[in-house]
Amino acid sequence: MTSPALWSAQAHMPSVIGRQINVVSAEGAYLTTDTGARLFDGTASLWYANIGHGREEMAQVAYEQMKTLEVYHVFGRYTNNRAIELAEKLVSIAPINDAKVILNSGGSDSIDAALKLARRYWNHVGRTSKKVIISREGSYHGLHAYGTSIAGLDFNREGYGTDSLVDGTERVGMHDAAAFAATIERLGAESIAAYIAEPILGTGGVHPPQDGYFEEIQRLCRENDILFIADEVITGFGRTGEMFASSRYKLQPDIIAFAKGVTSGYAALGGLLVAPRIWHPFFEQGADSPIYRHGTTYSGHPVTAALALKNLEILEREGLVARSSELEQVLARELKAIESHAFVAATRVGGFLGAIELSSDVSAEFVTDQVIEQGFITRPLRGNAVQISPPFITTDQEVRDLVGAVRAVLDAAQARTSKARATA
Ligand SMILES: Cc1ncc(COP(=O)(O)O)c(C=O)c1O
Repeated sequence: MTSPALWSAQAHMPSVIGRQINVVSAEGAYLTTDTGARLFDGTASLWYANIGHGREEMAQVAYEQMKTLEVYHVFGRYTNNRAIELAEKLVSIAPINDAKVILNSGGSDSIDAALKLARRYWNHVGRTSKKVIISREGSYHGLHAYGTSIAGLDFNREGYGTDSLVDGTERVGMHDAAAFAATIERLGAESIAAYIAEPILGTGGVHPPQDGYFEEIQRLCRENDILFIADEVITGFGRTGEMFASSRYKLQPDIIAFAKGVTSGYAALGGLLVAPRIWHPFFEQGADSPIYRHGTTYSGHPVTAALALKNLEILEREGLVARSSELEQVLARELKAIESHAFVAATRVGGFLGAIELSSDVSAEFVTDQVIEQGFITRPLRGNAVQISPPFITTDQEVRDLVGAVRAVLDAAQARTSKARATA
């Protein structure tokens, strides 16, 4: 077989060559492949196609903006109307009072920007030893150098010849506030810049926070002057039934990293919401005020910003954040019902995202491959779990059908196992 030019992301190439699913078009919650298969998008692509695919008005907005100003950078004195409007809109819905907005190109960018900003801030205020970033085991924060370095998924850190591409990272147990306290004790608060967490840990298997966990973490952060950073790349913009999971879980982050749902994936956009404590020195009048020397070519891209504004308008106009909350209830019921299946170890829901953790009798890779044959896309996550996070325009019945398709695959696998045991 000839080898394709495209090197797919996060792919074991020998295993995917010849098995690629080539998506040619999409509308609403459905994709069409080059073989003519129609597939339900049960993961909203990578957790982000929240308003659904193929919206005409999104295409129209991009077209209109391109005719007016397709791009200009926002370095130094330059700006553009769409970037200004988007920043103002984001400030108006942010769970941080009086926030400032940094725009860039995606989630991994946002993580780099957030962690560099945390270090830059401490450096500026003279506490130059505050450098270490603490993250959680099982966490995923993208794959740029900082995201790779703080990754709680070990396989994403391996093979680079060093424990951490960027110096000064530590991980603590996913739900273990005592481990965080012990790490502060061991390293000393004066060496720690920030703690970062996904409010609901996503790629690591969809783990909502345990009761009291973040309260304790935030108390420790406050008492030890450690910045609290919420990675809302998945949870931002409605996935948890609130615009931000920080509101749902009563978090008061110093920085929020966002991406994905801000445009529902219609364009590559990420960014930060930054609390006054952090931004203040950078905005103070005076020749001595510091410059945050971060920024990317496409920061504040006007077409991207216009798409984000339209996406936020659609979310509000169609009540899709409230709808996501309703869908969470439907998904929770369906997952509760499948929990008693012999091949299911556990289920978890937090917002309109859930996971079915499978027993060792069957692998998540096998189940997701079989479910595709039935017309539904799901995805294997860490811990032998199957991801479910469809668009917010999904119907109740589609949620039932999707979980039903997983059940049918598990039933068939169980029947095969029983038969094999009987004939053995
Ligand atoms: C929680 C979280 N943070 C960061 C990222 C990285 O985002 P991107 O892939 O846009 O760089 C992701 C991507 O899935 C994510 O889930």
